[in-house]
Amino acid sequence: MSVKLLFEHLDKPGIRNLEGYRSHGGYQTLEKALRTLKPDDITGEVKKSGLRGRGGAGFPTGMKWGFLAKPEGVPRYLVCNADESEPGTFKDRYLMEHIPHLLIEGMAISSFALGAETSYIYIRGEMMYVYHILQAAIDEAYANNLLGSNIMGSGFSLDLHVHCGAGAYICGEETALLESLEGKRGNPRIKPPFPAVKGLWGCPTVVNNVETISAVVPIVRDGGDAYARIGIGRSTGTKLISASGHINNPGVYEIELGLPVEEFIYSEQWCGGITKGKKLKAVVAGGSSVPVLPAELILKTAAGEPRLMTYESLSDGGFETGTMLGSGGFIVMDEDTSIVKNLWNFTRFYHHESCGQCSPCREGTGWMEKVLHKILAGKGTRADIDLLWDIQKNIEGKTICPLGEAAAWPVAAAIRHFRAEFEELTSQITEPAGQV
Ligand SMILES: Cc1cc2nc3c(=O)[nH]c(=O)nc-3n(C[C@H](O)[C@H](O)[C@H](O)COP(=O)(O)O)c2cc1C
Repeated sequence: MSVKLLFEHLDKPGIRNLEGYRSHGGYQTLEKALRTLKPDDITGEVKKSGLRGRGGAGFPTGMKWGFLAKPEGVPRYLVCNADESEPGTFKDRYLMEHIPHLLIEGMAISSFALGAETSYIYIRGEMMYVYHILQAAIDEAYANNLLGSNIMGSGFSLDLHVHCGAGAYICGEETALLESLEGKRGNPRIKPPFPAVKGLWGCPTVVNNVETISAVVPIVRDGGDAYARIGIGRSTGTKLISASGHINNPGVYEIELGLPVEEFIYSEQWCGGITKGKKLKAVVAGGSSVPVLPAELILKTAAGEPRLMTYESLSDGGFETGTMLGSGGFIVMDEDTSIVKNLWNFTRFYHHESCGQCSPCREGTGWMEKVLHKILAGKGTRADIDLLWDIQKNIEGKTICPLGEAAAWPVAAAIRHFRAEFEELTSQITEPAGQV
């Protein structure tokens, strides 16, 4: 049996509606929070839980909440990041589509904890049908005094808005998201100041991922200590994993952190093994921006320890032999997959989605895409592999936001672990690099 905190009632009939959600204990935690807890108690439980942001970076949520500035007379905001556009990641969409009231309850509890009276869910533009599901659930919550003024007679009031983006990956970066929410072009801001000090409309703001905010409900229901007992070490609780690629059972899974990667890939309960009985070649474990690892390194660390689904185990060995849990977009590739072609696909995405503000990212992503295209077309040289390496090095760490790294890391990892594949494709031509 595995622990289910977010998806416990996922398959119950009518769970998408308020009546169904309430019949399984929905909104009882909000009531508990409003009637028996003080805002700081809730932040205390979140700190104790060890919850780390599920949007990708894994920053401790309680600590982030603790950074929120609280100047007198200035509004504070909670903004939920539901932009989810990273290739390979689709768990937030799934959660919002199937159990929207869990997110709304989490928003209400978290807003109470942070002292926010107006909060936003910023949803990706392509997910219009999910927008409508969320809006219908919010309307139900308003009609039943679970949102709006004086919620459940507690004296706490909250207005919750869903705002639809226009379909840009960059608007998932929290400061670009805030720009977009303010009606401007979604260009990332220079930090500091961080949103906790100067966020939406220049006011203190917390930005958290859909899954992070939803996890606040079981944390407040059962207590932070109970949550911290699930998982391993600093990877506490459960994590939603979007599993895709050459596996028999693709889908969204809630796993207890600490599950061995090998069990996740091969067990019938999870991915169910590689399709058509093929061999595992590689895995991108945390969404397209994290380094790809070959089969031997995703199953075991360089020290020969079984690799676990935790922040620490997946990053063991740094980028030389490890990767990241990221947003939990777990893409499995079989022995027939072309790493170079897959990389070209990812790089094309990052080139298309670069906002263009920083030259290394704007120019570098396009350049990498062209060099990869040239190599795939059989016109690349050995020197082009070094050129690719050079370009990605000149993007990493040289941009305002981490989209640069998101584009650079996959290129570096593919060359690091699969150089022979690049060499095979460039074995025919020996002329110097540069012509693309
Ligand atoms: C290019 C880019 C895209 C991002 N997209 C998302 C996203 O779709 N959803 C998300 O929660 N975080 C995304 N992030 C991370 C956010 O900037 C931010 O760290 C996150 O929303 C914080 O929430 P958390 O602390 O709950 O993880 C993205 C970051 C970058 C650089």
